[in-house]
Amino acid sequence: MKIDVLLGLQWGDEGKGKIVDVLAPKYDIVTRFQGGPNAGHTLKFNGKKYVLHTIPSGIFTDGAINIIGNGVVLDPGIFKAEIEQVKAENPNIHQCLKISRRANLILPTHRILDAANEAAKGKSKIGSTLKGIGPTYTDKISRNGLRVGDIQMPDFKQKFDNLTARHLREIAALGYTDLNALDQMTKEWFDGIEALKQFEFVDAEMLINEKIDAGKSALAEGAQGTMLDIDFGSYPFVTSSNTICAGACTGMGVAPQKIGEVFGIFKAYCTRVGSGPFPTELFDATGEQLRTAGGEFGATTGRPRRTGWLDLVELKYSCMINGVTQLICTKSDVMNDFDTIKACVEYEIDGKRTMSMPFDSAEEAKPIYKEFKGWKTDISKATTEAELPKELMDYIKFIEDFVKVPVKMVSVGPDRNATIMR
Ligand code: GDP
Ligand code: IMO
Ligand code: MG
Repeated sequence: MKIDVLLGLQWGDEGKGKIVDVLAPKYDIVTRFQGGPNAGHTLKFNGKKYVLHTIPSGIFTDGAINIIGNGVVLDPGIFKAEIEQVKAENPNIHQCLKISRRANLILPTHRILDAANEAAKGKSKIGSTLKGIGPTYTDKISRNGLRVGDIQMPDFKQKFDNLTARHLREIAALGYTDLNALDQMTKEWFDGIEALKQFEFVDAEMLINEKIDAGKSALAEGAQGTMLDIDFGSYPFVTSSNTICAGACTGMGVAPQKIGEVFGIFKAYCTRVGSGPFPTELFDATGEQLRTAGGEFGATTGRPRRTGWLDLVELKYSCMINGVTQLICTKSDVMNDFDTIKACVEYEIDGKRTMSMPFDSAEEAKPIYKEFKGWKTDISKATTEAELPKELMDYIKFIEDFVKVPVKMVSVGPDRNATIMR
C-alpha cells in the first residue's frame, strides 16, 4: 500500500480538516507530518463543530489510528486543552492517537521568543500566530530542541531548565520584557506534560511503514499551505516547516516512492492571514463580501482573513511543487451571489508578463484576469454533480485545463455531508 497525502495549495485554511474528515473512513491511519498549533482545522458534523490544532482530523472516525509524526511541533498545554475537547466526542482517544517520540516540543519561552522576534521586526513582522512555531523549528535545526521522547528521560527537567535559561537570555537581548504570563504558561505546560504521558510514544516511522507494508491504508494531512512553505512560499512571510508533499516524507519517515495520491485542496477564491504578498487581494466591497459570506476569520487566532480572487498562476505552481494528482475545490458556495467572478491567469512584473512566482516578496505582481459569469444559484444543498450550475462547471473546467489536474471533489458547505464526489 501507499500513503496518500492531502495538502493546502494556497495560503492555508483551504478546508483541509473538513476534507480529511470526509475521506478518513476510507483509511486505516491518518497522520499529521508538520506544523503545530498554528494550524486550525475545522470539522462540522451532526450539528457540532470542532477546531483541531495538533490532532489529525481522522480522530472522529471509528477505527482510524491517528499519528502525530516526527515533523510536528507540539505544545503540551494546547494539546491538553484539545484532548479535553475531543474526548467528549471520542472517549477512546488514548487508544487511537499515537505520538512520535521524535516530534519536537514547543516550550513556553518559544512562544515568548516568537512575540519578541515579531516585536523586533516592527512593521515588517510576519504576522505569526505567536504559537512559538518559528523558534521551535529554529531550535530543532540548530540541534537544541527538546523532543517528546525526552519526557521519559531522567534529565528532562534539567534540559527544560537549560533551554529556558538560554531563551530568556535571547529574549532579553531582543529588549523584550513582557514575561508576565510565563509562570502561568509554565504551569499549564507541565500539566500538559502529564496529559501527554497518558499517550503511547512511538517510533512513528516504524509503525507507519510496518502498517503500510502489511496492507493498511494511510492518509497524511498537511497543515498550512504551499505558499507558506519555508522554501517555496513567499519568504520570509511563511511558516517554518515544509508544508509541501516532500515534507510528508521527512515528517513521517516515509520514502518518496511510497507516496500514492496527492490531493490538493484549493478555495474557489483566495485568502491569507498575516503579512506578505497576495497579488489578487481585494480591498473593496467584493473582498468584504467574500470575507462575510465565507466566514473568513482565523480558526486559531480569530483574525480577519485577507480575501481575493483565485490565483491560477499560484495554483499551477503549487500543483507542480507537490505533484498533485487530484484537486479538491472548496467554498464555491461562498460565491453564490456573484454576477461575475475573476481568476488570475498571468502576472505582470515590471511591465513583463510571467508565470513565475516572484523571488522577492517586495516585488509587485500585477494580476491579469480572466472573467467568468457567476452562477447566481444556491448550490449549498447540492448533493450530485448534476445539480451544479453550468457556470460553476465552466469555471471548474477552465481550472482543470489550466493546471492540468482533474477536480475530483467539490465542497459546497462546511458540513461533512456537503461534499460532491466526481
Ligand atoms: P483548514 O485549516 O484548511 O482545515 O481550514 P479552516 O478550518 O481553517 O478554514 C476553512 C473554513 O471553511 C472552516 O470554517 C470550514 O468549516 C469552512 N469550510 C470548509 N469547506 C467549506 C465549503 O465548501 N463551504 C463553506 N461555506 N465553508 C467551508
Ligand atoms: P492551517 O493549517 C493560515 C500563517 C500566519 C503567518 C505565517 C507564519 O489552519 O491552514 P507561524 O505561526 O507559523 O509563525 O505564522 O503563517 N499561518 C497560517 N495561515 N492557516 C494556517 O494553518 C496557518 N499557520 C500559519 O498567519 O502569516
Ligand atoms: Mg485553518
